[in-house]
Amino acid sequence: MPSANRPPPVTLGDFFRLAVRRFRAARLAYGHGTTNAVDEAAFLVLEALRLPIHTLDPWLDLKPTPAERARLATLIEARIALRMPAPYLLGAAYMHGVRFHIDRRALIPRSFIGDMLVQGSLPIGDPSKVRRVLDLCTGSGCLAILAALTFPRAKIDAVDLSAGALALARRNVATHRLGDRITLHRGDLFTPLAGRRYDLILTNPPYVDAKGMAKLPPEYRHEPRLALAAGDDGLDLIRRILADAPRHLAKNGALLCELGRGRRPLERAYPRLPFLWLDTEQSQGEVFWIAGNDL
Ligand SMILES: C[S@@+](CC[C@H](N)C(=O)[O-])C[C@H]1O[C@@H](n2cnc3c(N)ncnc32)[C@H](O)[C@@H]1O
Repeated sequence: MPSANRPPPVTLGDFFRLAVRRFRAARLAYGHGTTNAVDEAAFLVLEALRLPIHTLDPWLDLKPTPAERARLATLIEARIALRMPAPYLLGAAYMHGVRFHIDRRALIPRSFIGDMLVQGSLPIGDPSKVRRVLDLCTGSGCLAILAALTFPRAKIDAVDLSAGALALARRNVATHRLGDRITLHRGDLFTPLAGRRYDLILTNPPYVDAKGMAKLPPEYRHEPRLALAAGDDGLDLIRRILADAPRHLAKNGALLCELGRGRRPLERAYPRLPFLWLDTEQSQGEVFWIAGNDL
């Protein structure tokens, strides 16, 4: 609520400043597209009015309508009272400017694999030579869609166990008009893909270990448990992926996998596998690349 001795917010800048103050006071947790109160507040007020989210400055003096003011006030209070991540409140998340529909059926898009696809930092020569891609554990479909944009001649299969997540992925694929290149499959990891082989398998599977699950901040508890929990050491799904990937990789194919803080247990479990660790500006040792021939 606006405090008694402050005038009520009138401009978008007023709502932004109110949100920053309230978010800081409430000690929210971040990590669903932003990392701090200022960026979170900017995203919330801009997306609520469907303005471009990359810069706030041009809009600071904009005067929202009474209905928009009521919506902004409700969103700010809901972010605090429910500890609901902003993308779930707004129904949208972005990766490198690409917009995805999102709701509580799927994890909020934030994978470092997305950065690598968009920035072209994977150890792949000519992107147009990549023809068959698999996105395992696709959730909202965000990585399948970024892969389709990165590899212009690729056909992409995308798999998830959750019917709800796949319904959302279907909506995202349709919005990005990629229905002719992305095929969605429901099933347990590779089971719907008998006999198919890929140049690239990418996956951001569930990888939170039991300790991490016990300590999740409230914001993360709004996300599906199926998207996060991966047993005692966080490797339950990754072990199965490593075991089955060779049967689904084409000659010279490779597996790209995000695993959070699982690097140490993984290297202990597979001391002979030559994982190549790929870093981004925001991550170190959280994504590995391994050639099919080395598996
Ligand atoms: C960490 S989320 C990743 C979603 C999406 N790729 C992203 O980066 O935002 C993991 C996804 O794996 C799915 N999943 C969990 N277990 C699975 C299984 N055994 N087979 C297929 N998908 C599974 C969950 O439903 C969830 O959508």
